[in-house]
Amino acid sequence: MSARRRSAALLALGGALLALAACRPSVPFAERLFFTREATSALPAAADCERCHQEVVVEWRASAHARAWTSEAFQSATHAGRAEPCTGCHAPAPLAASGPPLLRTARRDEGVTCVTCHLSTAPGAAPLTMRGPASRSLPVEVHPVVAEDPLYRASDLCGGCHEATFAEWKGAPPPAGGEKETCQGCHMPSVHRTVESVNEEVPYSPLFVALERTQPLRRHRFAVPDDADDGVVLALERRRDALVVRVENRLPHALPTGSFGRREVRLFVAWPGGGSEHAFAARPGASLAAGATRALEVRLRGAALRAPLSVALRRFDPARREWQDVAVASAPALR
Ligand code: HEC
Ligand code: HEC
Ligand code: HEC
Ligand code: HEC
Ligand code: HEC
Repeated sequence: MSARRRSAALLALGGALLALAACRPSVPFAERLFFTREATSALPAAADCERCHQEVVVEWRASAHARAWTSEAFQSATHAGRAEPCTGCHAPAPLAASGPPLLRTARRDEGVTCVTCHLSTAPGAAPLTMRGPASRSLPVEVHPVVAEDPLYRASDLCGGCHEATFAEWKGAPPPAGGEKETCQGCHMPSVHRTVESVNEEVPYSPLFVALERTQPLRRHRFAVPDDADDGVVLALERRRDALVVRVENRLPHALPTGSFGRREVRLFVAWPGGGSEHAFAARPGASLAAGATRALEVRLRGAALRAPLSVALRRFDPARREWQDVAVASAPALR
């Protein structure tokens, strides 16, 4: 079809969709038009969702969730996924209202994927029913939607797999005069966008997106925030031959958190021409609890005794293979 005829056809389809807006009918044969054959018989793949939710899928692909099954660390710890008690959270079937996450039958390589969190397991739900927090604005339906589901804005959704962290979060003191931030609040930064995003390779995509309203939604990178500077606070005190670093954990979970693949956290001290590294909570069980403060004493020698010092508490980010700042502070030179 020529570009002009295609846009004329899209316009006609748009008019028809708007005319139908009042009752939000489903697009005829949507399952067959928009999903691969395997999707309707087994479980849809992330690539199916990518036709219409491209931005979300691109973010998720860069996340630890997408590598939860294939990561070298998991594969070697579980004899290539054969250790049964370990598998349910790393390649989970769509989450049920109760009970632990169960191992998926198809596409385990996708790890913690779209259908894990969004495909409805409610008894009697139509195939391809997706649950989510957003409100609806498209006049037609291409897959059944359960909209405005409050579970997606609550930490409980994450708690089913992040058991230890969730227990820490529930036990953490609420901030003075405020409500406790949810997991999503820090690990899924907010963004204003439409539920769908334009995928240039899919002809109907720009039309659907044009008919949708933007609303406050969240990114799917599931990263540890780079700007958590007031979540963890460092206070420095210079003594004659030492630097005392007080680490205050204002996060609603331990530092570091997690029970299986906890990342290492280290303290780095640097001065012009030199530097030193120090373990922080190296042993399991030595994490700094939510709300707690711990003092570390770092011995200084030679030039470091009077030099300006910069201090960083960092965690190891396995995806980028580098140390990521959790909190930083500096002390001026002594005269
Ligand atoms: C670990 C659970 C989890 C996984 C995995 C996940 N999501 Fe989400 N998703 C959420 C949460 C939580 C929200 C709610 C964000 C908010 O409050 O707006 C959400 C929101 C959405 C929305 C509503 C619009 C938006 O942008 O927020 C869409 C669409 C969506 N997800 C699609 C996907 C797709 C496609 C995938 C696979 C690439 C995916 N999700 C993977 C938890 C998940
Ligand atoms: C052909 C396009 C298309 C495909 C493919 C598609 N979706 Fe959607 N999705 C939509 C549209 C359209 C909406 C509703 C937008 C509206 O009504 O405003 C939607 C809504 C959603 C919502 C939001 C529910 C809410 O209200 O918060 C989620 C979650 C979602 N889809 C997940 C998925 C997942 C997961 C996949 C892959 C398994 C997928 N979708 C595949 C078009 C698609
Ligand atoms: C179905 C189980 C499951 C659910 C539900 C789940 N996660 Fe995860 N999450 C995992 C697994 C498994 C990993 C480890 C992946 C890896 O590192 O290989 C992980 C890793 C993470 C990480 C670590 C990222 C890093 O770089 O170290 C963050 C942050 C995270 N999840 C946040 C969330 C949030 C926020 C939610 C709720 C919206 C959530 N998760 C829901 C299973 C889950
Ligand atoms: C106030 C912001 C904030 C909130 C709320 C929050 N986190 Fe975190 N999270 C962080 C920061 C900062 C780090 C890095 C320091 C650390 O490891 O404790 C982190 C680290 C993590 C990690 C990485 C652990 C590792 O070492 O691989 C996971 C997993 C995680 N959080 C899950 C959660 C879950 C689940 C919740 C909700 C129960 C949650 N977080 C709530 C800020 C937050
Ligand atoms: C209840 C759900 C759950 C079960 C069961 C589970 N894990 Fe995990 N796993 C997680 C979560 C959540 C993370 C993210 C960090 C954390 O909380 O420790 C993770 C992270 C990991 C990591 C780090 C991944 C990386 O790329 O660095 C490894 C390795 C791991 N798990 C191995 C295992 C092994 C081995 C078992 C069985 C003994 C197991 N897991 C069982 C939820 C689970």
